[in-house]
Amino acid sequence: MKLLVTGGAGFIGSNFIRHILQTYPDYVVVNLDKPTYAGNLESLSDVENHPNYRVIFGDITNPADVETAFQSRVDVVVHFAAESHVDKSILNPGVFVHTNVVGTQCLLEYARRYGVQKFVQISTDEVYGTLGQTGNFTEDTPLQPNSPYSASKASADLLVRAYHETFGLPVNITRCSNNYGPYQFPEKLIPLTIIRAMNGQSIPVYGDGLQIRDWLHVDDHCRAIDLVIHHGVAGEIYNIGCNNEWTNIDVVKQILHELNQPDDLIHFVKDRPGHDRRYAMDASKLKRDLGWTPSIGFEKGLADTVQWYLHHDAWWKRVLTGEYRSYLAVQYGERLDGQL
Ligand code: NAD
Ligand code: TYD
Repeated sequence: MKLLVTGGAGFIGSNFIRHILQTYPDYVVVNLDKPTYAGNLESLSDVENHPNYRVIFGDITNPADVETAFQSRVDVVVHFAAESHVDKSILNPGVFVHTNVVGTQCLLEYARRYGVQKFVQISTDEVYGTLGQTGNFTEDTPLQPNSPYSASKASADLLVRAYHETFGLPVNITRCSNNYGPYQFPEKLIPLTIIRAMNGQSIPVYGDGLQIRDWLHVDDHCRAIDLVIHHGVAGEIYNIGCNNEWTNIDVVKQILHELNQPDDLIHFVKDRPGHDRRYAMDASKLKRDLGWTPSIGFEKGLADTVQWYLHHDAWWKRVLTGEYRSYLAVQYGERLDGQL
């Protein structure tokens, strides 16, 4: 099987490519990535010379780049490429619409023309909006996105659905909860907290810190996508999550504890506008129909992730470039008293 993976230089995409090359020695992976600030081909340095792996530098919103990728006659598309950070979507929504909506439509169009066997759209629980104290998102929960990021992902999901209904393109949409694990860009809560805590810097916690996320280890996520590629029924949506709800403040405290750092590094800052209060996934369809079970418990997965960042400082130090520092200044400058 030949897979076109978009956004393979990103966090989940790079872990997924490694999973596929290790699990299926005869599969070929073509990685289409721009890359943006969030893409880092160093995350794939261990497989860059693998005979079944190749990278194409290109933009998913550029039809010529996308056609080049499809000319290599791929069987399955796994579409990760996106602008993926909510806070950045509040600062600059336009690029989210362009990449996540226009880029997805461009890929769908070539997937249709080239007659691929399956198009897997990697989406998010955030398309469902927010939950109160109880209940879980199911695949039938109405889409009520609250941020420009989640609205752009919901729009992309609807285009994926439309290409299935209108043109018969065999598609699946997967919607996962928050991922954590190695190679995550340190704009997201867990790697940002680990790196700042390692350096003894203050940790910005939005609002009261009691928002809840349902954390999923990236390896469990990759195994779920693998099952959807091979056994997902065309046109179906699959939620991915492992009933692992944590408040942000407890996640941050757990990381500080792992690193023997004091809780007084925690710094409550102004809340994110439109901040979703709680996410929780019902993944019973994936478990029942495709036999998925998560295998990594959060305490162990988080401890291993902390260790990974401790032992890969060369990877994240190179990521902390001028652009990253200017982002921190815009996002947190006034709120962290200049402690960037
Ligand atoms: P990421 O930001 O780490 O990586 C995104 C990748 O897409 C990067 O390699 C980037 O270079 C590439 N990219 C961006 N714009 C591109 C363009 N125009 N053309 C080609 N490549 C482009 O993201 P991630 O965390 O790995 O997320 C992957 C997917 O999973 C996204 O679609 C995201 O919406 C979804 N998702 C992520 C999470 C999470 O917790 N990280 C949760 C739910 C859903
Ligand atoms: P994030 O990792 O950005 O993922 P998402 O917004 O997609 O859920 O944030 C996870 C949670 O952590 C979210 O409720 C916002 C919160 N958060 C902070 O409190 N401080 C921070 O510096 C960041 C980046 C996030």
